Amino acid sequence: MATENIANLLTESRTFPPPEAFAAQATCGSLEDYQRLYDESINSPETFWGRVAEELHWFRKWDTVLEWDHPHARWFVGGTTNLSYNCLDRHLDGPRADKIAYIWEGEPGDQRTLTYRELHREVCKFANVLKGLGIAKGDRVCIYMPMVPELPIAMLACARIGAAHSVVFGGFSANALVDRITDAEAKAVITADGGWRRGKVVPLKAAVDEALPRTPSVQSVVVLRRTDSAVDMRDGRDHWWHELMADADDTCPAEPLDSEHLLYILYTSGTTGKPKGIVHTTGGYMVGTYLTSKYVFDLKEDDIYWCTADIGWVTGHSYIVYGILANGATGVMYEGAPNHPAPDRLWDMVERHKVTVFYTAPTAIRTFIKWGDEHVTKHDLSTLRLIGTVGEPINPEAWMWYHKLIGKERCPIVDTWWQTETGAIMITPLPGAVTTKPGSATLPFFGVDADIVNEAGESVTPPDGGFLVIRKPWPSMLRTLYGDDERYQQQYWSQVAGCYFTGDGAHSDADGYFWLLGRVDDVMNVSGHRMGTAEVESALVSHDAVAEAAVVGFPHELKGEGIAAFVTLRGDAVGDDELKTVLRSHVAHEIGAIAKPDQIRFTDALPKTRSGKIMRRLLRDIAAGKEEIGDTTTLEDYSVLTKLREED
Ligand code: PRX
Repeated sequence: MATENIANLLTESRTFPPPEAFAAQATCGSLEDYQRLYDESINSPETFWGRVAEELHWFRKWDTVLEWDHPHARWFVGGTTNLSYNCLDRHLDGPRADKIAYIWEGEPGDQRTLTYRELHREVCKFANVLKGLGIAKGDRVCIYMPMVPELPIAMLACARIGAAHSVVFGGFSANALVDRITDAEAKAVITADGGWRRGKVVPLKAAVDEALPRTPSVQSVVVLRRTDSAVDMRDGRDHWWHELMADADDTCPAEPLDSEHLLYILYTSGTTGKPKGIVHTTGGYMVGTYLTSKYVFDLKEDDIYWCTADIGWVTGHSYIVYGILANGATGVMYEGAPNHPAPDRLWDMVERHKVTVFYTAPTAIRTFIKWGDEHVTKHDLSTLRLIGTVGEPINPEAWMWYHKLIGKERCPIVDTWWQTETGAIMITPLPGAVTTKPGSATLPFFGVDADIVNEAGESVTPPDGGFLVIRKPWPSMLRTLYGDDERYQQQYWSQVAGCYFTGDGAHSDADGYFWLLGRVDDVMNVSGHRMGTAEVESALVSHDAVAEAAVVGFPHELKGEGIAAFVTLRGDAVGDDELKTVLRSHVAHEIGAIAKPDQIRFTDALPKTRSGKIMRRLLRDIAAGKEEIGDTTTLEDYSVLTKLREED
């Protein structure tokens, strides 16, 4: 395990108590209330979580709240429920039936709203469409769609009949799609002719067509017409969404599912070249996303909540779809780029839709700062009452800008730390209860027994830094890695005895606040998105000109981390700017545009230890500009340095 990212040099001392008016109306309005509930959740988890689960609908109540057979958890054992039911049907008996579930805006400016009743109807119809295509309980369905209402409709339809979805972010390439479809053995793909991004069509169906010759498990494809672009439709395999929906019955009772029934698989990057299929199951994930949405976003009946993430990432799964709908809240969904047609698009939408709760990523905030305050200040943001961040550490300057320009020094900020694996928010302020400090995710959420340990697994003393671990199971935790339980055990539960290993470094302060310091493994965080160095390396070496590649992250002003690649070439390939462009496109083709290296350096050799391990720390220093190197070819000279370092 690398310890080099861990430092404890943060000295931020500003504090921001919850505004009184906010605390007075908050779901949790004081530190004492937080502490009391937190203590109960840790000391009597079964009482605490059992009580929360009672707020939701179960076809059959559980017998046992938790069965923990390290490192495998089962929550609400013996209970049967359905997440689609809890997100939809549960709201249809009262005034929420005609409440708006989603306010959607397409990038070109088209708009739609769906009430809970309308959303329920669409979901029931699409669930019947899936059944008609032979999709049954236990099957896997790959969803590769733009940010349109049909995306959550497809997810909720899967959940309704007990089929698991695997949503693949629309920015991933055909090759990435092949890996994910193959690993999950998906029987169907739900996609669209395209989606709008910066005024252009993202050709999703074309990528599916490129992938499908290599994915024998797929029997049918459903294609939503979104952009009216020309697409190839293969007879017998490909169907138009609108044609299937036209004939679909709108009655489809939700299937009672075992609490541990597979809800979804979501692939995320790890330390090897192969993405990991994170497995989430029904009951615990439902309870976890429901409770965090309720407390962290302080959701009230009249809130207009907007999370700017793409549903292709876990943030969208938990906090655009499941947790938000389970609370019967109104959510905003936006299809396109934040600067289309102009850099004030998001603030224009906040004003027009009267958004009250806004959740985004630090990388977006840094971009807004760069675009200029005038795009923000020309809009009325007075409806906002709470703002949040997720995905990466937020630098105190960005936090202060968010606080002043967006929150108008009036809205609490919730900096929420969590992961695809954790399913729900784990470390976060509760906005009416916890005093915030810019750059700190503050305190653990209910039921989260977080600690910071050294390499020997011993708790460190604040303010020392170490590895962030979670000591006890929590309801929305991943259950395993799809098809690879051994890797699950090894990756998460064997690095620090008895604990869930997060892969993040952290330190805490005298108030017990957590300060996240980034990854301690070979995973980068690029614009809040996880990317494995090994994945980018294997994409690079799959190009004919490349003999060997080493990839590291480096500090990047906007993206948080940028991607730097050190590449040795085969035979007589010439390392010039043209080849850099070719390799960048090649990586985009292999993985997706988000994986394109920001820097490429050609070198005759990679600096290695005597045992052949690439000296990544040295490469990181070079990429960050901390090590002086003249030009690319002089990297060889580091072989000398390498030897010296080895002898340290
Ligand atoms: O390094 C942490 C960082 O994002 C990683 C999880 O990435 P992913 O599974 O893609 O999920 C992102 C959205 C939940 C973590 O291991 N991270 C996430 N939130 C924060 C964060 N780092 C610091 N502060 C945060 N608030």
